[in-house]
Amino acid sequence: MASPEKGKNGKERDEVVKQRAKKEGLGWIEWMMGWFYLAYEMLFQRIIASNLENPMPLPPINDLTFVVTGSTSGIGKEIARQLAEAGGHVVMAVRNPKAATDLIKKWQEDWSGKGLPLNIEVMELNLLSLDSVVRFAEAWNARSGALHALINNAGIFSIGEPQKFSKDGYEEHMQVNHLAPALLSVLLLPSLIRSSPSRIVNVNSIMHNLGFVDPEDMNLTSGKRKFTSMVGYSNSKLAQIMFSSVLNKRLPSEAGINVVCASPGIVHTNVARDLPKIVQAGYRLIPYFIFSPEEGSRSTLFAATDPQLVEFCESLKAEDWPVCAFINHDCRPANPSEEAHNIETAYRVWEKTLELVGLPSDAVERLIEGEEVTCKYGVSQ
Ligand SMILES: NC(=O)c1ccc[n+]([C@@H]2O[C@H](COP(=O)([O-])OP(=O)(O)OC[C@H]3O[C@@H](n4cnc5c(N)ncnc54)[C@H](OP(=O)(O)O)[C@@H]3O)[C@@H](O)[C@H]2O)c1
Repeated sequence: MASPEKGKNGKERDEVVKQRAKKEGLGWIEWMMGWFYLAYEMLFQRIIASNLENPMPLPPINDLTFVVTGSTSGIGKEIARQLAEAGGHVVMAVRNPKAATDLIKKWQEDWSGKGLPLNIEVMELNLLSLDSVVRFAEAWNARSGALHALINNAGIFSIGEPQKFSKDGYEEHMQVNHLAPALLSVLLLPSLIRSSPSRIVNVNSIMHNLGFVDPEDMNLTSGKRKFTSMVGYSNSKLAQIMFSSVLNKRLPSEAGINVVCASPGIVHTNVARDLPKIVQAGYRLIPYFIFSPEEGSRSTLFAATDPQLVEFCESLKAEDWPVCAFINHDCRPANPSEEAHNIETAYRVWEKTLELVGLPSDAVERLIEGEEVTCKYGVSQ
């Protein structure tokens, strides 16, 4: 697996950093390319991923524990079911525990007679509340159990909706798709370190190509850029890649944790629930182009379980130009957008994210040292 940006010498990099730092928004070529990648993926994803089996066979995962956020619907539901059926211990981290419990009951019934009962359970997590994230992490860490992969799958794309803010005061796409998963990832580090080798897998999107993050305006309230749900969504996905890249770099090899982003493709899920009815009907009419949730789960399952990925992530860690692994919908590593390589912005997004989620700037280093870290959110403040 070749790593992106290899071969850039230090001087060249410094020059690029200087030029990139001046950017006020996406250039029109980058913007056009973003739309091109999206259209290309929509039209050709099935051909590009024709090498993959469906469902994708998984390596042995008995005795491995996975936390899957947003596993009551769409891609996350498939990820949770397939991991459990392959023998993994799965924790469904969801905002609607009743829906998850009903799903487990159904899956156990469907599975009965095929092997041991599925090892799957439910814990409550609402990403629109940073208190809820801290409560989840505290409950999880109190169990002192193993965690081999945190799969940050839950996400929203409130198409056509006006700008909304969480009770914590953050733009909802940014909070659910980036800030809350980032807080969860950091707070679960003790468990991931204890269980290493382990992974943090973020379900990202091709639409990060259309994103541009101003770390001083993560809420998109300055008026410099007009809010649309598309802008909110693509910015949150780009922020997630930037944060993941710095986190991956900051976790020393000895910690044994790698951070990966995975792009599922264009998938027919509830993510389209806010689309106008006519567009939803169109969605259903083009099944050839759109992946089923089972097909859309493959890149994340690959990123969470493939043994070879560790070596690739480690090689990225060793580079001084830190961009985390980005696994495409065909389960091959791909290069995220030009803007995702903006290291200057990535470090500012890192710092701003820690500030917004109420963590000290050295939280990761302290957790690696085994120290306790306090978050300004949560019950124990
Ligand atoms: N579908 C696509 O074409 C596509 C393409 C690229 C990336 N993705 C990404 O794939 C991931 C999964 O999306 P999907 O397509 O499977 O959509 P989905 O069917 O709408 O599933 C989203 C899941 O996230 C959960 N969720 C939403 N808000 C939450 C919150 N505040 N707290 C906790 N959980 C919350 C939902 O819970 P409820 O069931 O309770 O609503 C649901 O389980 C997202 O990160 C999305 O951005 C999707």
